[in-house]
Amino acid sequence: SIDVSTLTRQTGFTTLDYGFVNTAATKSDITYIDGDKGILRYRGYPIDHLATHSSYLEVAWLLIYGELPTADQLAEFDDKIRHHTLLHEDLKDRFFTALPHTAHPMAVLSSGVSALSTYYENESDPNNPEHVELNMIRLLAKLPVIAAYAHKKSVGQAFLYPDNSLSFVDNFLKLNFGVRSEDYQVDPVMSRALERLLILHEDHEQNASTSTVRLVGSTGADQFASISAGIHALSGPLHGGANEAVLTMLAQIQESGGGVKRFVEKVKNKEDGVKLMGFGHRVYKNYDPRATIVKQSADEVLEQLGVHDPLLDLAKELETIALEDDYFKERRLYPNVDFYTGVIYKAMGFPTRMFTVLFAIGRLPGWLAHWRELHQDPKTKIGRPQQLYTGSPERSYPGA
Ligand code: ACO
Repeated sequence: SIDVSTLTRQTGFTTLDYGFVNTAATKSDITYIDGDKGILRYRGYPIDHLATHSSYLEVAWLLIYGELPTADQLAEFDDKIRHHTLLHEDLKDRFFTALPHTAHPMAVLSSGVSALSTYYENESDPNNPEHVELNMIRLLAKLPVIAAYAHKKSVGQAFLYPDNSLSFVDNFLKLNFGVRSEDYQVDPVMSRALERLLILHEDHEQNASTSTVRLVGSTGADQFASISAGIHALSGPLHGGANEAVLTMLAQIQESGGGVKRFVEKVKNKEDGVKLMGFGHRVYKNYDPRATIVKQSADEVLEQLGVHDPLLDLAKELETIALEDDYFKERRLYPNVDFYTGVIYKAMGFPTRMFTVLFAIGRLPGWLAHWRELHQDPKTKIGRPQQLYTGSPERSYPGA
């Protein structure tokens, strides 16, 4: 690898790299991916081991601090997060009522994080380690609450207060699906399945939303501003928004009655720019290891929850046809993490528009870890890509 910043200064040499296909913007110790072999590791630990044996908060600690926590460290981390779950009452009561019930929960989530920052303006100095630690805890504690209230608002139900006797994931499920505080029993199958999905999403090195968090962070903006921007970046259908787009696509194929083969032909002919959502990845040119785990989970979880969803059968049929087709083979397009997650979220009872919000909660620890790493790296500079100007040469303003 070449550090081109000195070279650029000395020679005026500039690389043009649409989509940053071959440009590293940083070094990082957090996540390793080998896209050809389908390998993903957080801080050296294989993703399948973490998804099987770990918890969301343990992995969050690992990503942020670099090592697995001791039992005491994890208990203290968990405890701090439980004690920061409440939103300011003004935010809880007035922010959400000001928005239409039709608001997309991703827009509510990113606005909610921006709004949250206004309560902590005197405690969000990016150069103050105590502020940084405290705001990591606040964001981990409060993002799921904002997310659940966005859901409740969309279905017209009352907001519950967080129940801090419950684990992180169980509390989140209760905030989403509890109607009265005392009557909700968490289903352990659903809880473990959601925890596993969240772990799979916790980091993915320099993807578009993480790069956004780092770019905004590089300007000296605080964690709230950086994470809010990351949520916006995640919302796009080519990134986190793909999990919602997959379910919409499957439902449309089902409704049209046109069949899977006809849809695949449409994709191959690039009719109306249609893509097979949940397929393809910038880095993985082999099966996305997260998708392998999610596909397995989809069968198990639907069976355990007693749900039969024809959309899962449709997704499998679509995958089989695509993987045997030369168009997909030549381009090395495989299912990515988003292909099967939606079917599981749907079986749990989440509306389609909440799917990318679940991704955001999953990804938050990774964003926080990258923001922290950026600030600890003495080589960090403000992110500022170059351009090659292709516009008009100098010309005179008429009459000037
Ligand atoms: N369906 C059909 N064709 C596809 C797909 C797809 N899902 N993905 C890529 N292709 C085709 C492209 O049209 C292109 O074909 P061409 O050479 O004939 O022009 C070729 O494969 C290469 O694709 P690129 O767009 O150059 O690949 P890139 O790395 O830029 O894009 C991306 C990766 C955005 C993920 C793309 O595969 C895509 O749009 N997939 C669908 C959306 C999706 O599932 N996104 C989630 C990604 S994972 C995540 O963010 C969590």
